Amino acid sequence: MVGYFTEANSAETVNARMGEGISPRLRQVMAALVTHLHAFAKEVALTDAEWAFAIDFLTKTGQMCSEERQEFILLSDVLGLSMLVDAINNRRPAGATENTVFGPFHVEGAPVREMGDSITRDGKGERCLYTGRVIDLAGAPIAGVRIDVWSDNAEGFYSVQQPGIQDKWNNRGVFVTGADGAYSFIGIKPVSYPIPDDGPVGQMLRALGRHPRRPAHMHFLVTARGYQRLVTHTFVGDDPYLASDAVFGVKASLIAPFERTPDGPATWRSAFDFVLTPLA
Ligand code: BEZ
Ligand code: FE
Repeated sequence: MVGYFTEANSAETVNARMGEGISPRLRQVMAALVTHLHAFAKEVALTDAEWAFAIDFLTKTGQMCSEERQEFILLSDVLGLSMLVDAINNRRPAGATENTVFGPFHVEGAPVREMGDSITRDGKGERCLYTGRVIDLAGAPIAGVRIDVWSDNAEGFYSVQQPGIQDKWNNRGVFVTGADGAYSFIGIKPVSYPIPDDGPVGQMLRALGRHPRRPAHMHFLVTARGYQRLVTHTFVGDDPYLASDAVFGVKASLIAPFERTPDGPATWRSAFDFVLTPLA
């Protein structure tokens, strides 16, 4: 018997209300959530006004959500929670390519293109040849790998952010590896851009003295039968926002070389191998 609610026993009192026979995982997760939430309120001595502000902030965050906009995921991203959950769920052996945040701008159903094709439809930006291989932990090539790629355009917008201005499939494409595991395509050298910051998350960033920008990157979703799904980016090494990515997505192993190629099919070349982890 815990008794009536007091400041001292608050979390224990709430958690003691859970019934018998409920899911053990639900019990574990909710008990920890209540314990940490109460400890947080006590640590900062949360005021009535601050609590009301937080309720209003969360209400506005929900109201900002639509089919095209997920403000709660954006909130999770800027708090580092998305990257933490991703890290917990994608612990990989040394040598395997690391995951990073998926982001809201992937579109299912991009056209399957031939190796070497260009994914850029708007003719803007500096052309970059992306090359590499998909290999296993022992270095052997993997065939039949689906590599789904997407990036912003030279002005820092994904095609889905500019319907009617950009072609839906601009800077998007799917490539499937052959026996050599190799891939190649032409895109642009991506540019840094701000995450959507016209809602509550943007207001929060400004209040915290944080900028909303992500360093330039190319997105890759790499899937193959028998291997863990790889959701990752390659980052442009000299980007000024690498150390302050608004969503904490940068990992040192994902910073790729981008080299000038004065006499190739593109101005830049970026070589990067993806090392897949077998399913357990
Ligand atoms: C992105 O890289 O596309 C992205 C990731 C998280 C939030 C917003 C954008
Ligand atoms: Fe992105």
